[in-house]
This record gives sequence, C-alpha cells and structure tokens, in this order.
Amino acid sequence: MTDALSLVDDWGPEKIVVVSHRRTGMKGVLVIDNTARGVGKGGTRMSPHVTVGEVARLARVMTWKWASVDLFYGGAKAGIVADPTSPDKEAVLRAFARALSNEVPREYVMGLDMGLTENDAAVIQDELGDRGAAVGTPEHLGGVAYDKLGVTGYGVAEATDAAARYLGLPLGGSRVALQGFGAVGHAAAARFAELGATVVAVSTAKGALHEPNGLDVQALLAAREEHGDDFVNRHPEGTVLPAGQELTVDCDVLVPAALQDVISDETAHRIKAKLVVEGANLPTSPQAQEILAQRGIAVLPDFVANAGGVVAAAFAMDARYSGFRPHTPTIFQTISDRLRANAVVVMEEAKHRGTTPHIAGRGLAEERVRTAMQSKGRVPR
Ligand SMILES: NC(=O)c1ccc[n+]([C@@H]2O[C@H](COP(=O)([O-])OP(=O)(O)OC[C@H]3O[C@@H](n4cnc5c(N)ncnc54)[C@H](O)[C@@H]3O)[C@@H](O)[C@H]2O)c1
Repeated sequence: MTDALSLVDDWGPEKIVVVSHRRTGMKGVLVIDNTARGVGKGGTRMSPHVTVGEVARLARVMTWKWASVDLFYGGAKAGIVADPTSPDKEAVLRAFARALSNEVPREYVMGLDMGLTENDAAVIQDELGDRGAAVGTPEHLGGVAYDKLGVTGYGVAEATDAAARYLGLPLGGSRVALQGFGAVGHAAAARFAELGATVVAVSTAKGALHEPNGLDVQALLAAREEHGDDFVNRHPEGTVLPAGQELTVDCDVLVPAALQDVISDETAHRIKAKLVVEGANLPTSPQAQEILAQRGIAVLPDFVANAGGVVAAAFAMDARYSGFRPHTPTIFQTISDRLRANAVVVMEEAKHRGTTPHIAGRGLAEERVRTAMQSKGRVPR
C-alpha cells in the first residue's frame, strides 16, 4: 500500500484528499499535483481498482501535459473506487462530488476519464449547483464533444505534418500506417487524407488491413460506421495481416493510436517508418525510443502529438460560465496552431540538446513549471 507522504517530491503533489461516504460506500481520492501555472485540471476516473498511487501518477502526467502545450492549468486527477456499471453509480458520484465541495471548482475542476460519461459530468454540475464544477458535459448543455469532433486525431495529423515538414518529408505523397481506428485513429486518418498523405495500413483489435498503393480513407470510415472494429476483415480493399504487423509495414510515418507499450525493443528494430508519431499514450518504451533514435527514426512524443484533447479541454474550461457555445472552428484552428508549433519546438530542442524528443520535451515542460514556481516564491528564485 502506498504511503501518501512518500509520493511527495520536488514538484508535488500539493494536496491529496481522500474521501469516503458510509451510506453509499463511496471511496475516492483527489490529487492536486502542481498548480504553479493554474488551477488543477485533469479527468476523473471511476474503476474498482483506483489507487492513490495511480491517481498521483496521472496527476503528474497532467502537470507535464499542460505545461508542454503552454496552457495555464495545473496537473490534477481524481479517482473513485467503484464499478461504473453499477446501478448505484449516480449516488456514488454525487457523494464524491459533495465530499469535494471545498476543492471543486476552486482548486480542481472535474472532467471525463475511464468510467465516466458526459451525463456524469452533468450530474456533478447538478450536485454542486455550479456549471464550473465539471467539463465534458453533453453538447446540449454547451459541452465540447471531444471524441465526436475527433479533436485528438485531428491534432495528431496536424502535428505529424509539421514534424514531417521539419524533417524534409512532406506529408503530401507520404505513406502512413496507423494502429487503432478508434476515436483517435479514425479522425487522424481522415485528416491525413485531407493533407494528401496515403494511408497504407490501418488496424483494430480485430486485425490489420494493408494496401501498399493506399486505402480509400472515406470508404474505411464508412465501413467502420457499418461494421465497427470488424470492418478490417470485411473490407474489399487490401490484404488482412495479423494484428501487430501494421507496425512494421513499409511506410514513411507510423502512428500507434491504440494501446500503450506496443513498440518494444524488438519491434523498434523492425520499424521501417522514418517518423513515428505517438497518437496513443505511452506506446513506445524508453529503450525503444533510444533504439529508434540510434536508427535515425524520429519520434514525436505522445504529450506533443495527442494534445488536441487538452487544447479542446481548455476551451471547455472557458465555456463553463459562458452563455455561448464554444466555437468549433476556433477550437480546430487553435489545435492546429499550437500542435504544429510545439512539434517543431520539441524536434528542434531535441536536436539542440542532442537527445530524444521525449527527453527534450519533458525538459521544456519542467522548465516552464519550475519558472512559475520560482516566480510565485514556491521555490527559491
Ligand atoms: N480519445 C482521446 O481524446 C485521447 C486523447 C489522448 C490520448 N488518447 C490515447 O489514444 C489511445 C486510443 O484512444 P481512443 O480514444 O482512440 O480509444 P478507442 O477505444 O476509441 O479506440 C481504440 C482503437 O484501438 C483498437 N485496438 C485495440 N487493441 C488493438 C490492437 N491490439 N491492435 C490494433 N488495434 C487495437 C480498437 O479496435 C480501436 O480501433 C489510448 O492510448 C488513449 O489513451 C486518447
């Protein structure tokens, strides 16, 4: 069992609040990691397996994510130990929100993560009688429908385009292979096609589809609508490969956009792409990152490439007390501007420091947080 005090290091957490409620059986935790750059913001998850250590780790990831895209929020995360399919879900959620009424929304704003839905965000707002208590509400309540809009996948493709140009590998005519065709993967593929890239492989949990001359992305999107993940096995174009082989097909850009830990040392030796763009969180092990760097294969890190969701969340934060719906074209334009600029900054920093983009990007984020802590007198100037 984690001793909460052992989690504290130079960055945080600033506050860990464990709450419980006897009648509903609610148990949960809020971890506010570092607010030097702004109020704590990060999703709220519900799972029977939530632990203080896990929530603290995710809160720290949020500290770096916000700083990396230079948005003024602090890292935080909350977790409720409960089964999200239980009929008692709403009572537990309301008890959790109530128990955190001292912190929410002044120090932490709730949002969606594993186990919570748009309606749950609406329930949190209702319980605390405050539209500011949560983001991630349904569109009919003024929320930003991240996955329906495909903001993260769109951002992945935009960041890829910028990184590819930086490497002298323009996307127009480049061959792209994608792992995963869910919220992130399918939206990325749609944007890749618009940007003139050729999608040569896609995959789902049901298998991979490969066509060296290029797949018709519009047809893939329609097939996904009709058959779900199984479209890869029913599609008239391309050949079906065993799952996992899409990572090593001949291509210019590889986008893992499904699971974590899919690019091991062994896979890293067999990748043929010139650029790997992490659409998923943590798809490449640190050793694999080193191997890819030694092989001259550039990697655009997850916290740079898949930050479209956090940019959209920042708009949702602004919209909480507004009478107006967030303006969707502005969200997309901002994602494009931010992620393109950041992709280049991180690639340049990696070159300048002679290190991997992961280490360089993390270094930049740390510098931003450290500077904010110094300005506020939280550490010696
Ligand atoms: N949705 C977002 O806004 C967002 C933001 C940042 C990061 N991410 C990360 O991106 C990744 C994907 O998220 P998502 O929201 O698209 O999930 P999703 O559940 O919508 O889609 C996942 C996709 O991966 C496929 N898949 C699962 N196992 C696979 C396997 N073994 N081989 C190939 N494909 C497989 C599924 O069939 C599906 O197509 C996750 O790592 C997530 O944490 C998502």
